[in-house]
Amino acid sequence: MNQPRHVAIIMDGNGRWAKARRHGRVYGHIRGAKVAKSVIEECARIKVPFLTLFAFSTENWFRPIEEVSFLMHLLQRQLRRERATLMRNNIRFQVIGDVERMPEGVQDIVRETIEVTRSNSGMILTFALSYGGRQEVTMMAQEVARRVAAGDLKASEVDEATVASLLPTSFLPDPDLIIRTSGERRISNFFLWQSAYSEIEFVETPWPDFSTADLHHALARFGLRERRFGRTSEQLRLP
Ligand code: IPE
Ligand code: IPE
Ligand code: MG
Repeated sequence: MNQPRHVAIIMDGNGRWAKARRHGRVYGHIRGAKVAKSVIEECARIKVPFLTLFAFSTENWFRPIEEVSFLMHLLQRQLRRERATLMRNNIRFQVIGDVERMPEGVQDIVRETIEVTRSNSGMILTFALSYGGRQEVTMMAQEVARRVAAGDLKASEVDEATVASLLPTSFLPDPDLIIRTSGERRISNFFLWQSAYSEIEFVETPWPDFSTADLHHALARFGLRERRFGRTSEQLRLP
């Protein structure tokens, strides 16, 4: 069965999960952080080479200030606490997104976590923080324009490989499988360029209830899919 090289997850549904239990939204985020830990450990255990978690979008900044502050605080605490987990599982930590927009404390712990896990040779775990697909495509366009203006690049030479190499995800293969929890069937500004041929699993389970069994179901369904990349089934069976 085909195993995805790169799994990306849009961890959605924390707020509704908490509300349904008559709790504040932030309670859902606390539970969600615990689920993230277990999914990270399981992916490392089964040797998924790349795992990306969409944790905070460029649009999430528009949420009520109390929720944004809480999320920043939770992220900082969780990264500090789970450093040992990353080391124990030989996980290398990376981030994509406009991290400079995050509070200093978060930026510091992000930098430190990248640094201390730098030599780990197992799974690459990437957190998408203050991340937006449109924002990164816009930044890429600016960089192309700068290089063309400086004479370092010809407009006619800009191809798909150039674009991919100027995106912050250039160190990642495109995601094979994108999982979104909580029943919403949309991309919400995640991996716009990178998801061109991703298989997408929309699962009804809200993120705080997402279990390692749900992860294995999604991986099993992925394994059954035929990825044609525009070709025909017959072509795929040729040697
Ligand atoms: C995902 O859960 C976490 C973040 C986007 C930070 P939500 O907070 O979006 O929860 P719902 O979708 O409102 O239930
Ligand atoms: C997408 O979820 C972003 C993350 C999971 C971090 P949202 O909850 O922000 O997406 P919308 O607003 O429902 O599209
Ligand atoms: Mg949501």
